[in-house]
Amino acid sequence: MTRYSVAIAGCGPRGAYHAEGFAANADRFDVTACCDLDVGRAEEFARRFGIGKVYSDVDAMLAAEKPYVFCFATLPDVRLSLVELGIKHGVKVIAFEKPVATELAEAQQIFERCREAGIKLVVSHQQKYGPHFQAVKRIVESGEIGKVTKIHATARPWLSQLGTHFMDYMLYFNGRSPVKWVVAQAIGTGMLTDSHPSADYVIADMEFENGVRGIFECGAHAPHFVPGENPLRDIKFWTDSSITIHGTHGYAEVTTGNGYRAFTRNSQGEMIEGDGNFNPSYEQPLYIRDLADWLDGKIATHPCDGDIAYHGFQAVMAMYMSALDRKRVDLPLAEIPQGSLIARLGETLPHSDEYQGQ
Ligand SMILES: NC(=O)c1ccc[n+]([C@@H]2O[C@H](COP(=O)([O-])OP(=O)(O)OC[C@H]3O[C@@H](n4cnc5c(N)ncnc54)[C@H](O)[C@@H]3O)[C@@H](O)[C@H]2O)c1
Repeated sequence: MTRYSVAIAGCGPRGAYHAEGFAANADRFDVTACCDLDVGRAEEFARRFGIGKVYSDVDAMLAAEKPYVFCFATLPDVRLSLVELGIKHGVKVIAFEKPVATELAEAQQIFERCREAGIKLVVSHQQKYGPHFQAVKRIVESGEIGKVTKIHATARPWLSQLGTHFMDYMLYFNGRSPVKWVVAQAIGTGMLTDSHPSADYVIADMEFENGVRGIFECGAHAPHFVPGENPLRDIKFWTDSSITIHGTHGYAEVTTGNGYRAFTRNSQGEMIEGDGNFNPSYEQPLYIRDLADWLDGKIATHPCDGDIAYHGFQAVMAMYMSALDRKRVDLPLAEIPQGSLIARLGETLPHSDEYQGQ
């Protein structure tokens, strides 16, 4: 079995989860080096995961290590520049964090240039590996809720934080049928200057190619699905996101921080319920295992591959385009806007902080 070499950049909390994932699949991957602008952080990371070489410059690391897989977990302001370094040094795979970019034009550069270079991409929308997500996936695929008619996704954290996750999960539960069009509204400017720039609240209606309808609510006015106190940026806030798949004979619902429930044609009038919570230490090894299986040709594609991530990103950014231009936006986008949609939201939306007081 091939063992793929890996170099990791970004030694923060998310970099550590990726390292855990590779360590759990040490028979398939060999992490040879790590890198952070903060070299102290990189050294501590190397000690923790038994990584042999430490760098503070990605260009130097990739030049010296020539890894098969380049994994990076930085904040969203650093994406294209690192992808360009991966292309320059001939890596075969880039595994990176959501959101794939902060703007559509940047995402277009990332995905088109990697496609041209033959680089495989995976994006960490890994919550789908949680046991509660998998239980709902099995219920939906078994046909117990009948034919899927509507998918309703909600997330309290803002769009570039959890919205890209939940758009991805809508596509996942809908068997990757692409979004055909979106009609959306966006309000609130408080999070436009966040590290994950977003409107404070976005609501969208959409249709998928297979006729299923979707509703997406993300941000300050999305409903709560995790009970109890849930203040902004507290731990429970980050897991207050949910997806409900409605069918002709029932429904199934999974909440990141609150298990799953389903009412199906076989549940004899009772609610099926089960546990599950956000646990990257559980999810990341499975996501990395699928990466090995994809590279080995054992599975046709990775459930978090670049194609689905780019489509999901187009869908959420199309929501901003719909809100800004007050029109339906069809996908795939015929033309990718080259200007900044975030700047346009700042110029166009009435100024308000929709999270204030919540
Ligand atoms: N998939 C998930 O479930 C999930 C959960 C939380 C966060 N995230 C995402 O993970 C990403 C990273 O989050 P984090 O909390 O680990 O961030 P962080 O800021 O704590 O860590 C990022 C690290 O990257 C380093 N870095 C930045 N630019 C660099 C460069 N050019 N070269 C080398 N190192 C560089 C920084 O010095 C920092 O140590 C974000 O995009 C966030 O949205 C994903």
